[in-house]
Amino acid sequence: MRFSTEEIASRLCCPDDQRSLRSKDASFECRHCGRIYRAWEGEILELLPSKPVGSLSNPKYTADYHLEFHRTFEAREDAIPWGVREAQSSAWRLHRERQVRTVLSMLRRDGVPLQDGILCDVSAGVGDYTLSCARHFRWVLHCDLSVDALRYALARSRRMGLRNIFFLRVDYFALPFRCSIDRLLCLDTLIRGQDHEKALLNQIERAIASEGRAIVDFHHWWHNPLRRLGLLPQNFGNNRSYTRTGAEGLLRECGVEGWRLVRFYQEFAPESRSLKRLSWLLPATRLLYEFGSAASGHTSRASAETGFSTTSQPNPSDAARGAAKSCYP
Ligand SMILES: C[S@@+](CC[C@H](N)C(=O)[O-])C[C@H]1O[C@@H](n2cnc3c(N)ncnc32)[C@H](O)[C@@H]1O
Ligand SMILES: [Zn+2]
Repeated sequence: MRFSTEEIASRLCCPDDQRSLRSKDASFECRHCGRIYRAWEGEILELLPSKPVGSLSNPKYTADYHLEFHRTFEAREDAIPWGVREAQSSAWRLHRERQVRTVLSMLRRDGVPLQDGILCDVSAGVGDYTLSCARHFRWVLHCDLSVDALRYALARSRRMGLRNIFFLRVDYFALPFRCSIDRLLCLDTLIRGQDHEKALLNQIERAIASEGRAIVDFHHWWHNPLRRLGLLPQNFGNNRSYTRTGAEGLLRECGVEGWRLVRFYQEFAPESRSLKRLSWLLPATRLLYEFGSAASGHTSRASAETGFSTTSQPNPSDAARGAAKSCYP
């Protein structure tokens, strides 16, 4: 590992009371409530809150979430976590690679040397983003609730020889971070219904450092309206999609302001010239938003961008943003 446990502890907090942790033997202890957090298989630190949140408006998600929350940490030979590449079509894999390249170029454009920073993916799944971004960051926090996804991503990172990824089992409704994350990702996850999205966005806002930035995405309703209206067979399960107005309304309700919008088109490589010529004809597949901490008064910058189209939104006053967030429990 390229980092010490004290260094990790300084970025974490107790998911129950948001107080600081200290490293103790091979585990972490809350300085306030004394709860001990242990690592499984020496590599996956479990930082779950004492209990899951109650019901959400999406009953299928709520049932799966409660099941996963109460799962113990044992290997399942037949487990196939969501997003395993081998189980996907070649078109899916191509679109996924384009998405990863788009996110990486968003992370790299803001001028802050990434090699000094910490990247945290709060629903990192099988690691498509964390493993691709790891070499650009000092270290990476790969977080997920799913035991199978964490084990799969850990095995993948070992095969790739990556030594700067720290694996955390978390519940994103009670993230163990308080103003301590430089760059945060939450992708393909704001898809379960408005109450879910708002709860998660509030946690993200609390997790990022005052100079930190987050990138989240929404499935775009206009990408396949005929399927949304039931006029073609739908292929997206129970997933929620949003129009731009809907997505930005949610962001505002959660105190997020001053974002930069990047439209992602899966039909084009992010660096292709055709994208610039033809994107106005097509609805974007995903709406990606990059924003700073509510405490920072950070101003996002609009700039000419190759590979995707961007729109920035003016920032609110520093006072309004500062009032929205406190970094102390
Ligand atoms: C659709 S996948 C997206 C994974 C990854 N972001 C990507 O794009 O490849 C959603 C992920 O969220 C995780 N997840 C669901 N509920 C969670 C919760 N309450 N806390 C943490 N992770 C959760 C799932 O286990 C899954 O890995
Ligand atoms: Zn505690």
